[in-house]
Amino acid sequence: MLKMSALYPGSFDPITNGHVDIIERGLKVFDRVIVAVLKNPKKHPLFTTKERVKMVQDIFASRPAVEVRAFDGLLVDFARTQGTRVVIRGLRAISDFEYEFQMALMNRSLEPEIETFFMMPSVHYSFLSSNLVREVAALGGSVDGLVPPAVSRRLRSKVRGPHKVQIS
Ligand code: PNS
Repeated sequence: MLKMSALYPGSFDPITNGHVDIIERGLKVFDRVIVAVLKNPKKHPLFTTKERVKMVQDIFASRPAVEVRAFDGLLVDFARTQGTRVVIRGLRAISDFEYEFQMALMNRSLEPEIETFFMMPSVHYSFLSSNLVREVAALGGSVDGLVPPAVSRRLRSKVRGPHKVQIS
């Protein structure tokens, strides 16, 4: 294990078992993983920043090596405030590559000291995305096994609640 912290940024709207898998893998390599939840993703998030942060915190409540913070602005600036030079991103499939490649090189051009580490989740989650999870939940399908149970419950209550899930 490297005596080093790493930042794992994303929208986490909501966190899926694929994200959990990447965080677990990150913990095998780094001694601290800071999950950085983007405050205002371009797409209108289903869950508020507070809800997205809380869901990650609850899942990793017994793991002090996982910290959860909300951020806005440039990722490289936030990484600097956290004293970390490593960014973790998950790569599910070749289709992720182009966007991730552009983002990693843009971050490097903004801050040459930052390195992006790509990790592959378990093959069981290679098809999984927060977008699909929201869509399936909105249409009444089961997302059990795709997200942690507490997230599944929260999704169900959003579907039933006064503010119904919108498919974007
Ligand atoms: O889960 P996502 O939506 O794929 O995560 C995207 C995220 C949050 C990593 C990316 O949008 C981001 O870093 N946003 C912060 C703004 C920024 O630094 N943009 C320039 C990097 S290309």
